[in-house]
Amino acid sequence: MRTQVGIVGAGPAGLLLSHLLHLDGIDSVVIELRSRQEIEATIRAGVLEQGTVDLLNSTGVGARMQREGFVHHGIYLRFGGRSHRIDFPSLTGGRSIMVYAQHEVIKDLVAARLEAGGKILFEVKDAAVYDLDTREPKVRYHHGGKLVELECDFIAGCDGFHGITRPSIPSRARREFTRVYPFGWFGILVEAPSSTDELIYAHHDRGFALVSTRSPQIQRLYLQCDPNDEVKHWPDSRIWEELHARLETAEGWRLAEGRIFQKGIIAMRSFVVEPMRYGRLFLAGDAAHIVPPTGAKGLNLAAADVRVLSKALAAYYATQDEQALKDYSATALRRVWRAEYFSWWMTSMLHRFHDETPFHHRVQLAELDYVVSSRAKAITLAENYVGLPLA
Ligand code: FAD
Ligand code: DHB
Repeated sequence: MRTQVGIVGAGPAGLLLSHLLHLDGIDSVVIELRSRQEIEATIRAGVLEQGTVDLLNSTGVGARMQREGFVHHGIYLRFGGRSHRIDFPSLTGGRSIMVYAQHEVIKDLVAARLEAGGKILFEVKDAAVYDLDTREPKVRYHHGGKLVELECDFIAGCDGFHGITRPSIPSRARREFTRVYPFGWFGILVEAPSSTDELIYAHHDRGFALVSTRSPQIQRLYLQCDPNDEVKHWPDSRIWEELHARLETAEGWRLAEGRIFQKGIIAMRSFVVEPMRYGRLFLAGDAAHIVPPTGAKGLNLAAADVRVLSKALAAYYATQDEQALKDYSATALRRVWRAEYFSWWMTSMLHRFHDETPFHHRVQLAELDYVVSSRAKAITLAENYVGLPLA
């Protein structure tokens, strides 16, 4: 089998790359470990930056998001029992964000690719990439009981943090940067009316909490927990007790309870590999970098990477000029490190660290107070949260 671009992984990065390449007349094959049903049901991120929204709209896959997503013009920072609003449009020249679940983006992209005759192979086993430093890189895998070799001009590693493409780069040709946080997030989905018109990021003595939403009937909430904790240790009563304690205000705000129908624990890390290229293999999204979720950047960075990569590939196929491909890693990494900084900063400011000193905690509170009282600092938060303009 042959294609121009072999794409490993049908997450947001792989699917969006395949879609963007198709619009430029470039052929690709996406291979995915899991079933279509599974990728369309995995609960993950929910906040889309303005630039991601614009990209989905301008490439024809934003119609359902426009109908069913929710535009938010700000967030609340809550600490010391009070809420402080950060208004995005007035701080960023009119930009905002969209709350629309990642698995809905996945459904829209899968539908668009299949409708256009795109090739997505689900439930592929034993994927491996070869000959990366030649002009004929290959992907080998088992599909439907057969061993297949896919010859490519280029391979895109879009297989997430635990994928096989990044480790296929010889260790002498990559450098990795890691920070693991001493906490995780306990996430729940709840059948309840929303308690707030915009997301609440709360810093509390007992730890961080986040109130997000999926629809007027379904709410998404998170609370800081031990990363090694287990869901079975969290009966509903304990979750509600913790959320009420961390979110309560002096202003009498009430959190609406409801039926919890999904629970999960997310580990938190910062990670970057440099460069994001080896020979004819290009990494994009979580395969190349991870951010802690506090800044809602993971999915958006994946989209930004593949936008840069698709343009570089389109330039190559139009003119045979490889310059944009040579620049891909440096161009993408500039945005990646900005998002790494922002996500680290939000995480550090909003969580409790078990080993922190009283001095450290006072400095955190001073930082929060500065964000909500200085326009300059509020702009820093807002312009990063809505997303810096795409390169
Ligand atoms: P992924 O979405 O990980 O997609 C990679 C795909 O590759 C997967 O479908 C996988 O099955 C496939 N794959 C892996 N290995 C192979 C293989 N060997 N062969 C073939 N296919 C393979 N971000 C936020 O901003 N907010 C959040 O609340 C948030 N929550 C998260 C919760 C969890 C549990 C996780 C894991 C991530 C979360 N993120 C969150 C991050 C965000 O979801 C990711 O940044 C985003 O999914 C990155 O997209 P991607 O396409 O690069 O990778
Ligand atoms: C959601 C996730 C995030 O990481 C975040 O910062 C805000 C919202 C969410 O899942 O809705």
